[in-house]
Amino acid sequence: MFPTCAACHNADGSGGKHLPGGAVSADLRHAALVTAQKTPYTLPLLERAISTGVDNQGQALKPGDAALEDVASRPARHSLRTC
Ligand code: HEC
Repeated sequence: MFPTCAACHNADGSGGKHLPGGAVSADLRHAALVTAQKTPYTLPLLERAISTGVDNQGQALKPGDAALEDVASRPARHSLRTC
């Protein structure tokens, strides 16, 4: 069984969970993804991040550790299949 988004990002989306391998889950609340961004996330950018692991600036999200590789296909860590 795959963990849900909330397993890493918290039920309220606040993130900040330290995962094995050193990755820290992102804060997914509106202020963090839109207000505080130079390139604010839009719906298509969010879909790209989740499905391909590329962030709003076109950068790859940090390479996954073993636990993260389990929940998503390579090279993308994020996949809709995780939910
Ligand atoms: C196994 C833990 C884990 C799961 C499950 C997970 N994420 Fe993440 N997510 C992370 C980590 C860690 C990062 C931060 C990556 C980085 O900083 O490079 C992240 C980053 C993100 C980002 C990019 C935020 C930014 O600031 O660029 C989005 C969007 C996101 N996650 C959405 C989701 C959604 C939606 C789901 C469910 C389909 C999900 N995540 C499931 C661990 C997870």
